[in-house]
Amino acid sequence: MSEPVVTVSGLYKSFRSGENTIEVLRGVELSLHIGESISIRGESGSGKTTFVHILAGLEAFDTGELCWRGKSLKGRRRGPLARERAGFLGMVFQSFYLIPEINALDNVLMARRMIERPDEGARKRAVEMMERVGLGERTHHLPSQLSGGEKQRVGVARALMNRPSVILADEPTGNLDELTGNVIMNLLLTVCREQGASLVLVTHNKTHARSTDRELLLKLGKFESPESVAE
Ligand SMILES: Nc1ncnc2c1ncn2[C@@H]1O[C@H](COP(=O)(O)OP(=O)(O)OP(=O)(O)O)[C@@H](O)[C@H]1O
Ligand SMILES: [Mg+2]
Repeated sequence: MSEPVVTVSGLYKSFRSGENTIEVLRGVELSLHIGESISIRGESGSGKTTFVHILAGLEAFDTGELCWRGKSLKGRRRGPLARERAGFLGMVFQSFYLIPEINALDNVLMARRMIERPDEGARKRAVEMMERVGLGERTHHLPSQLSGGEKQRVGVARALMNRPSVILADEPTGNLDELTGNVIMNLLLTVCREQGASLVLVTHNKTHARSTDRELLLKLGKFESPESVAE
């Protein structure tokens, strides 16, 4: 198997609210390999979104280690980390998170703006990605002029814009009907494969989970082994 792009070991994360401490993650381990797709299922509140935000370097954790390409994120400064994140990771969200005031193409280009001022090459890449997700005719539409499935296609194009090593998708089909959800899921898996990106998919959908290389279940703050996920 290829070398890991993301590794997590002995990860603990708790939230404090008043007197109470909620221990969400209690010793999570993960090695995500180049080009590998994994799915994470788990009950609502089990910590899936928290884990994905930690993987993205967007949320701090209590103890443990997180490495991108073998390099620990510990002690990294915010600015350089944000730029590295924009090149290393693409994110797809349940609620799309498109910027409503700008058109679909500019939403895709926004990923590049996190790193540098987009040049003509970046614009060409954004158009290519819009075409790749089947929206070549929708580049000038505002998000409000797109269907839910189309918005999520823009989300996928934006996530892939910078040729990231890893795509993190947190319930990307959660707001879509079943058929559209299946289309988006196939698109995500296909474009990740084409571009050699690894995929971390959070989903409640067992069929979608099964379409990834490896299934994980987050339970009581840890991943259960794949064998026990097969029900
Ligand atoms: N900022 C926060 N402050 C306090 N508690 C939090 C915070 N963020 C999350 N939590 C708690 O951590 C737990 C895990 O939340 P998380 O959003 O990661 O769950 P999830 O598995 O993604 O759930 P869902 O399937 O509903 O999206 C929940 O009990 C939640 O209330
Ligand atoms: Mg969640």
